[in-house]
Amino acid sequence: MVPPDASNTKAPEARTVSIPDEKINCLPGCFITLEGGEGAGKTTQLSTITAFLQQRGIRFISTREPGGTRVSEAIRAVLLATDLPAMHADTELMLMFAARNEHLQQLIIPALQRGEWVICDRFTDASYAYQGYGRGLSLPRIAELEQWVQGSLRPDFTLLFDIDVQLSRQRAARRNRVDVANVDRFEQETCDFHEKIRAAYLQRAAQEPQRFIRIDASQTQAAVGTAVQQALSQILTQRAAQHAVRTIQ
Ligand SMILES: Nc1ncnc2c1ncn2[C@@H]1O[C@H](COP(=O)(O)OP(=O)(O)OP(=O)(O)O)[C@@H](O)[C@H]1O
Ligand SMILES: [Mg+2]
Repeated sequence: MVPPDASNTKAPEARTVSIPDEKINCLPGCFITLEGGEGAGKTTQLSTITAFLQQRGIRFISTREPGGTRVSEAIRAVLLATDLPAMHADTELMLMFAARNEHLQQLIIPALQRGEWVICDRFTDASYAYQGYGRGLSLPRIAELEQWVQGSLRPDFTLLFDIDVQLSRQRAARRNRVDVANVDRFEQETCDFHEKIRAAYLQRAAQEPQRFIRIDASQTQAAVGTAVQQALSQILTQRAAQHAVRTIQ
């Protein structure tokens, strides 16, 4: 797991924002989320993304969920702890959104307001996949929380790291043998649970083809990196086209 961006720890109280919902979709930055199951390679590819953006002089922050601010990281510790008793699925869902609210208000929205790109390792699609499809919680209830916490703010683009469940679990298991601190509650779930997660992500991607870019994450690290760079180039092209249309209007 990547440690939260160092800037996350700076005087968060001073940066809390609240902006009207009608303005939230017009923020100048670009909000990109990384999704996919455990061990798919999301965190590994953060360095490819970082290098791509730096080479082009694009200002960005990278962050993760649950987490990204000191309060949200504290909630993350509770959510992922393997030494606490199992929590009620609704508790898990509400903690995820509590952490997300803090993350949005303190870090993500201010960065988007400054025109920066935000690269976020997991976001609300994970709540639908894990708590909705995985734990069986009501999807409309998740949608209510999404609306409450995010208003109309949604990621501009989502890179979906799609991979066979057996393969990703093998990768995660190998990683966890080296880095025992990485083992969390979700990784202890059954194969059936992880198959549901994969199916959920693919279904959501099919429902929103303009937002999702599927990456074949079963390839070598280098090949996945190339696919990630191609996806980012596609995003840049689309943003340039959108900007041109706005300028003409
Ligand atoms: N394309 C790849 N081929 C082989 N191994 C890989 C590849 N990408 C990543 N790995 C390895 O697989 C393990 C899991 O990768 P990583 O931690 O990036 O996954 P993740 O999607 O961030 O998982 P999580 O959701 O648990 O955070 C790591 O040990 C990493 O080195
Ligand atoms: Mg990761």
